[in-house]
Amino acid sequence: MEKDLGKIFSSFRGVRGELIPVLQRIQEKVGYLPEDAMLQVADFLNVPESTVFGVASFYAQFRFTPTGRNRISVCEGTACHVKGATDIIKEISRVKGVEAGETSDCMEYTLEGVACIGCCALAPCITVNDEVYGRLDKKSVHNVLKKI
Ligand code: FES
Repeated sequence: MEKDLGKIFSSFRGVRGELIPVLQRIQEKVGYLPEDAMLQVADFLNVPESTVFGVASFYAQFRFTPTGRNRISVCEGTACHVKGATDIIKEISRVKGVEAGETSDCMEYTLEGVACIGCCALAPCITVNDEVYGRLDKKSVHNVLKKI
């Protein structure tokens, strides 16, 4: 972790305005924002720890717990909701044995509901590790899950 943070910090100047990009880089590298990393960000940017925690908790993009190796995000935006997103998330939960909003005990899967991902014409949509799959239903989602 120390080595990763040092490398990340070295590509920034260490000014307050870099807070969000620094947090994004850490999350890209580590998968979430460990508490210790956020404390070091506060020190690096010379901002109060409360500012770092406040900003990180304000934006839904940031996570504070480790995610599974495979991140399954089910769009719960209006178009996807109307076209059956709830059934899809229940089916994924049943098949993979992980509740929505949680990570499986084996750390293999994280299942989450997310806001519109911008592919409404393909509703209902999911992403698996940032790859988009659309026009799904309870049956066709199995084809996606088999690829994981
Ligand atoms: S509502 Fe699901 S992609 Fe827009």
